[in-house]
Amino acid sequence: MKRWGKILIGFIILILVIQIPAFNPKKNISDAEPVNDIANAYDVPMDILMHLYNSCYDCHSNYTKEYPWYYHIQPVSWWMSLHIRNAKKELNFSEFATYSPKKAEKKFHEIQEMMEKKAMPLKSYLLMHDDAKLSNSDYQDVAEWAKKMQNEMGRKKVNGE
Ligand code: HEC
Repeated sequence: MKRWGKILIGFIILILVIQIPAFNPKKNISDAEPVNDIANAYDVPMDILMHLYNSCYDCHSNYTKEYPWYYHIQPVSWWMSLHIRNAKKELNFSEFATYSPKKAEKKFHEIQEMMEKKAMPLKSYLLMHDDAKLSNSDYQDVAEWAKKMQNEMGRKKVNGE
């Protein structure tokens, strides 16, 4: 057999082997009550909460709403799990209530920045999730809310609350 033929067969075998379910990463679907969710500790108006829920929670919470069919094809699930892991390390709305005021304020600042730059949700995610797209005014609303939260936290510090 020609060398390229062998390489191709080797590649096909590798792709088949990594489909074995034992190699699937654990799904991000915690069934614990989300007691530390951001909405339990901070003032999140319903429309903002819906934006976060529809556009951010799949990566930035302990519960990914729905896994697409292609999630079950490797190496897609490794790639997605890595995104979710990195996203949660930066910002986890399900754990937000456990953040110190200093950390929370910083996270609100980062959210504001990301929304002003329209840098989130990730482009690769938006390609497959039309319903997670935010309009210009949605981006603005979330950014303004995040800014307001920082101001309120600053005020509390001054008043010693
Ligand atoms: C498809 C997964 C995904 C979605 C959906 C998503 N993010 Fe992210 N986000 C990430 C990843 C991954 C990171 C880690 C940094 C990186 O790799 O860019 C991140 C990082 C962040 C950070 C930290 C950035 C910094 O300054 O370091 C913020 C804030 C953020 N995201 C906000 C949001 C908001 C708000 C939404 C919803 C409007 C959202 N993200 C939706 C994947 C996602």
